Amino acid sequence: MADKLEIMFTERKIANKIKKLGAQISEEYQGNEITMVCILKGACFFACELAKRITVPVQMEFMRCSSYGDETISSGVVKIIQDLDKPIRDKHIIVVEDIIDTGRTMHYLLEILRQREPASLKLCSLLDKPDRRVAEVNLDYVGFTVPDKFIVGYGLDYAQKYRNLPYIAEVTPDEGKGE
Ligand code: IMP
Ligand code: MG
Repeated sequence: MADKLEIMFTERKIANKIKKLGAQISEEYQGNEITMVCILKGACFFACELAKRITVPVQMEFMRCSSYGDETISSGVVKIIQDLDKPIRDKHIIVVEDIIDTGRTMHYLLEILRQREPASLKLCSLLDKPDRRVAEVNLDYVGFTVPDKFIVGYGLDYAQKYRNLPYIAEVTPDEGKGE
């Protein structure tokens, strides 16, 4: 019994992309300090690697939201399970996410953060899956754009599995009952 995994982006390709994103962010935030808001759990692998590639000072903060089933999500409500422990007023915030799919989570979350009056608020996502977008989200930094497939690895999970894969893969779940 095994799910089928097909590699989409190798470890090396991801590392190169993160290096480029880090260089771009470092350039754009010259003379400023960044507060990175990492969305748990999926984005933590990406956020740590990205932070290491940024040359201006970076503070790491963490937040966790619920991912509801489709019915609840369609009401537009996303629950914050773990909030930031400091105010973000007048800070330069980069929200770091693993993947933007329908966009509902980020649409809602960015609105909440905007109300806290940061100096600036940008969004960086490792992956963008635009085919299923229903809520508008402005993505400032993107690693890779992906088709409407179920993706795992580098922080992304399938039923809490595969987050620790060093690469990004498409998963086809095993439907069989045997072994
Ligand atoms: P949305 O943009 O509000 O639909 O939700 C995005 C969240 O759904 C992400 O933070 C992921 O946790 C999860 N998600 C969406 N697509 C995938 C995928 O292909 N693999 C793993 N998680 C996904
Ligand atoms: Mg997530």
